[in-house]
Amino acid sequence: MSDQTDAKAWSGRFSEPVSDLVKRYTASVFFDRRMALQDIRGSLAHARMLARQGIIAAADLAAIEGGMEKIRGEIERGEFVWNLDDEDVHLNIEKRLTALVGDAGKRLHTGRSRNDQVATDIRLWLRDTVDAIDGLLRNYQAALLDLAETHCDTPLPGFTHLQVAQPVTFGHHLLAYFEMASRDRARMQDCRRRINRLPLGAAALAGTTYPIDREFVARELGFDGVCENSLDAVSDRDFAIEFLACASLVMTHVSRFSEELILWMSPRVGFIDLADRFCTGSSIMPQKKNPDVPELARGKTGRVFGHLMGLLTLMKGQPLAYNKDNQEDKEPLFDTADTLIDTLRIFADLVPGIRVKPEAMAAALKQGFATATDLADYLVKKGLPFRDAHEAVARAVRAAETRGCDLADLTLAELQAYSPLVGEDVFAVLTVAGSLAARDHIGGTAPAQVRAAIARARAAL
Ligand code: ARG
Repeated sequence: MSDQTDAKAWSGRFSEPVSDLVKRYTASVFFDRRMALQDIRGSLAHARMLARQGIIAAADLAAIEGGMEKIRGEIERGEFVWNLDDEDVHLNIEKRLTALVGDAGKRLHTGRSRNDQVATDIRLWLRDTVDAIDGLLRNYQAALLDLAETHCDTPLPGFTHLQVAQPVTFGHHLLAYFEMASRDRARMQDCRRRINRLPLGAAALAGTTYPIDREFVARELGFDGVCENSLDAVSDRDFAIEFLACASLVMTHVSRFSEELILWMSPRVGFIDLADRFCTGSSIMPQKKNPDVPELARGKTGRVFGHLMGLLTLMKGQPLAYNKDNQEDKEPLFDTADTLIDTLRIFADLVPGIRVKPEAMAAALKQGFATATDLADYLVKKGLPFRDAHEAVARAVRAAETRGCDLADLTLAELQAYSPLVGEDVFAVLTVAGSLAARDHIGGTAPAQVRAAIARARAAL
């Protein structure tokens, strides 16, 4: 980036230049150049509208279109020279346009302000980002479905309070994360509706005196409509805050999954192994294989939450309309998008690389009396009120615990000591397979239900 001194776009008003430090402090071109292509798109739509409305000449539009095409090429090839003196992406591009095409370039900013321009650019950029994230969430979901499909019948202990609760299938467990991702996508789509409105035409804050056609610009840029109020259009960033809230929930869900992966991969649990390409070793302990990727995903979640808090705080004290504070909206947005995009890309690849260890899951199910609820339900079906059944089974569990065995290892006579209602058929209920198959309703963990849920999910995807 060159740092040549040159007249500022607004220099006429001032008697002394800003210091280099202030220049650097107030400039955003280092980071907002990331929206360069959106800026060009917005400018072209604006210029076409100006020409259609007779505000600029057809020849000016042709010159602007030609110049912008050239600039786009320079940016794409990495040849564009970004200049700190021109503050931001908008002024850099406008200046280069004027250098290329002369007065036509100076006419582009007619009826427009950087305030509505930047709000437009962010919305265009965020819309593209939301669409990219939707595709990545979909790939992640497809990976979850594939793995779930091979584990419709694989039992593992379901936990509450991190204590063994009841048997579930691993497929069912994975589908829980599929559901979270479905809601994450729906939330992003809903947010997209509010992103997809055109601020251009609001100009600095009050609208403009030229006979503009905002609807035309909105159509050109694929917006669903225009922002209704000019003051609101240039100043609020609630759509960006909403995106960060949606992103925070995506990361929350990925973080919960990560926490489980880390736990499952611990040798103490040993339910899964992660492919080597997602793990790293220790520089001192030769035996280590650490689940770095899920740990980092869990850690990066905090960073996205921080951006959400940052933007909320950025907004809360701002009077109408535009304030320079808003320039601080971009880096948190960009970093959040990068974090989500990388995380989701990695997870779509990480999920197929999960090596499941069904023996370890089955062994864990032998501890913790996972079928105790099934025994209570069995007694209820024989006529005992649930609270009494709960008490009888609790006493049986205590006996089994003292003897260091599972409920299914108690003899019929021993079980009958806790309730005379127990019969020969009790042992079918105490098996893991029986417990799973019994939860046979929509949303339940029965393998048949998990298969049906996967079929529905595939159709929806
Ligand atoms: N770089 C500025 C931003 O990101 C563009 C808008 C500047 N507007 C102004 N009145 N200084 O918000």
